[in-house]
Amino acid sequence: MKIMVRADDGQVASVAARLIAEQVKARPGSVLGLATGRTMERVYAELVAIARAEAIDFSRCRSFNLDEYVGLPAGSVHSYRAYMEAHLFRHIDIRPENTMLPDGMAADLESEAARYDAAIREAGGIDLQLAGIGETGHIGFNEPLSPLASRTRAITLAPGTRRQNAGLFGGDVDAVPRRALTMGVGVILEARQVVLVATGAAKAAILARAVEGPVTSMISASALQFHANCLVIADEPAAAQLQHRDYYDSMVATDPEFAPFR
Ligand code: F6R
Repeated sequence: MKIMVRADDGQVASVAARLIAEQVKARPGSVLGLATGRTMERVYAELVAIARAEAIDFSRCRSFNLDEYVGLPAGSVHSYRAYMEAHLFRHIDIRPENTMLPDGMAADLESEAARYDAAIREAGGIDLQLAGIGETGHIGFNEPLSPLASRTRAITLAPGTRRQNAGLFGGDVDAVPRRALTMGVGVILEARQVVLVATGAAKAAILARAVEGPVTSMISASALQFHANCLVIADEPAAAQLQHRDYYDSMVATDPEFAPFR
């Protein structure tokens, strides 16, 4: 794991967007793993701006999102499909048929989850997986107790996650679905690169536990400590409780991987 701390969420978003843009430029047929949520809104705004300025071609890319609510039709404004259309897909030239999210309306969620994992395998696996961290420590919707080897599956959302996401449902926690389909921790760990983005003071305590604490299924983001190519990008408020900040800063100053961002 490597950690880069930037001053604010705008700078974090521009680094994350630049990494995605360079991935697609280097490999136009990239398979991208995508996430939703408030953190990603700025990342996608930056990515759209870069894609326009540099005429980046996404037409050969495929994307797999981490998760989708169960029981929300794709046409619902609250679905993650709708979020992705609004923030990214309609602004770039990715082909609609190449954008995949789990189908939260599937009659048989178990088969849908297995189909999703098979589709990722058939696409050759994910090159770059973008992830946020929830206040419960989840990546995707892998809530506490998610097995670190878990595959894509239906899961019950933790009360804390439903409260965290209520803002996107007009502040009404009861409107937030109780279940979701999520890529499993084991599936996320198979991506060739993972970029975890954390911004804001509300993420400070859980980010420190995920990065510097023991690996535990109670904090699925801690499983990223097993990943051979994981970069955490945090803003100052989210990084506030990291204990080894001086080391992370010297890593950014000396590791050639960070040269473009110095
Ligand atoms: C969403 C997802 C979640 C979010 C996390 C952070 O697709 O996978 O893990 O990334 O809940 O959400 P925000 O950015 O809204 O704080």
